[in-house]
Amino acid sequence: MTGRVAGKVALITGGGSGIGEATALRFQEEGAKVVVVDINGDGAQRVAATLRERGGEATHFVADVTDPEAVQGMIQHAVQTFGRLDILHNNATAAEVGSVTNLSLAGWNRTLAVNVTAPFLATKYALPVMIAQGGGAIVNTASVSGTRGDYGMSAYNAGKAAVINFTRSAAIEYASKGVRMNCVCPGAIDTPAIQALTGSGAATPHMSVAGSAAGLPRLSDETREKLRARMAGAHPIGRLGLPREIANLVLFLASDEASFITGAAYIIDGGLTAHTGLPSMT
Ligand SMILES: NC(=O)c1ccc[n+]([C@@H]2O[C@H](COP(=O)([O-])OP(=O)(O)OC[C@H]3O[C@@H](n4cnc5c(N)ncnc54)[C@H](O)[C@@H]3O)[C@@H](O)[C@H]2O)c1
Repeated sequence: MTGRVAGKVALITGGGSGIGEATALRFQEEGAKVVVVDINGDGAQRVAATLRERGGEATHFVADVTDPEAVQGMIQHAVQTFGRLDILHNNATAAEVGSVTNLSLAGWNRTLAVNVTAPFLATKYALPVMIAQGGGAIVNTASVSGTRGDYGMSAYNAGKAAVINFTRSAAIEYASKGVRMNCVCPGAIDTPAIQALTGSGAATPHMSVAGSAAGLPRLSDETREKLRARMAGAHPIGRLGLPREIANLVLFLASDEASFITGAAYIIDGGLTAHTGLPSMT
């Protein structure tokens, strides 16, 4: 079989939507067998079915990645189904948004659980399998929000910063065992999560607003378009990123082409964080 990850087995959390879905498709295109994991069973099932329709080998597994037993179950499912586990993409996310005084302790804890504890758990349980096989690659989806602050996103900002430094520590501990670990740090990417944050009214149960049972607000079409245009304009490239553009970097880092890369955090943000924020003087 040809392909950049031919014959490898890749497990993707949050694989039922957005960047995880795009990564599942890219891995399948390049020859991997794919395990699509999500708390949203419909999404995971739909993506795995799409991969099989495209001629790939894929299975889905429903798990809350903050639950240690479920995480062990997803790793076992990969090994039992495909005989090994070569690539782990820790990508699921959830967040409570709101100012520090409004954030609930439960929302703070849940945000950190999904964004930091879950990658720790999956890494902890994947490592013995990968080491026994002779190696593997782990890619964590962090964010530019792990390198800077955002208004109303302190829990998410803290979680994404933590996962970047967790990746570095774990990478140096296991580099000599043949397991590489890296992060990708996207800017704003046009996925259901960003659509919900920009007021589409989309149902995203994993995104909540501190102090509101109603979830993220639905904005008028005009306000939403203005907000999306401002968000796009903050990226010097002039637009939001596409899920597939992030998937391409995840694929590279997970493949043997990245054999000397470990403990790194790659910014992929259309120039967003290259900018001081000052306006153009020309
Ligand atoms: N979209 C962006 O602008 C952007 C920017 C930077 C980083 N990211 C990161 O990219 C990753 C993917 O985000 P996305 O925009 O594709 O989001 P998304 O909402 O489209 O997908 C996230 C997926 O995670 C799943 N999920 C949530 N909680 C879970 C849990 N406890 N267990 C298992 N699955 C769970 C959801 O069901 C969903 O399918 C996240 O780590 C996010 O923080 C996104």
